[in-house]
Amino acid sequence: MKLIIINGPNLNLLGKRETDIYGELSFDDFFSELQFKFKEVELAHFQSNIEGELIDKLQEVGYSYDGIILNAAAYTHTSIGIGDAVKAIETPVVEVHISNTFQREDYRHQSYIAQGAKGVIVGFGLQSYELAIQSFVAQKKT
Ligand code: DQA
Repeated sequence: MKLIIINGPNLNLLGKRETDIYGELSFDDFFSELQFKFKEVELAHFQSNIEGELIDKLQEVGYSYDGIILNAAAYTHTSIGIGDAVKAIETPVVEVHISNTFQREDYRHQSYIAQGAKGVIVGFGLQSYELAIQSFVAQKKT
């Protein structure tokens, strides 16, 4: 099974950025843990701070991968373009967030991704990504 994690702006700074909210682990270290835990999954990772690059990646993988785990970060709350891309492609998308965006500022309560997503996992720290992968793995087994 081929899955990809697509991370949006500032998520390249995980481990250094607002560690009280996002934790102290870098995404690279976390990604290695995920690869170790899910050996049966062909797991890829892409990060960009640029909206159009995120849309290009969704279009590129969105007809061949089995699942996309998307943390569009701040673009979640602003990008109709990324929301439209999620609706346009065939590969199911699970929206994830590290923090519980509903406990934060009002502008983080809106998502342009959720309407087109298969599901949304919010607020479990980095474990949100793991739960999303598990959902794809479990679905494949049924
Ligand atoms: C985030 C939540 C967003 O509101 C924020 O802009 C991020 C990270 C999260 O994973 O908790 O950059 O998507």
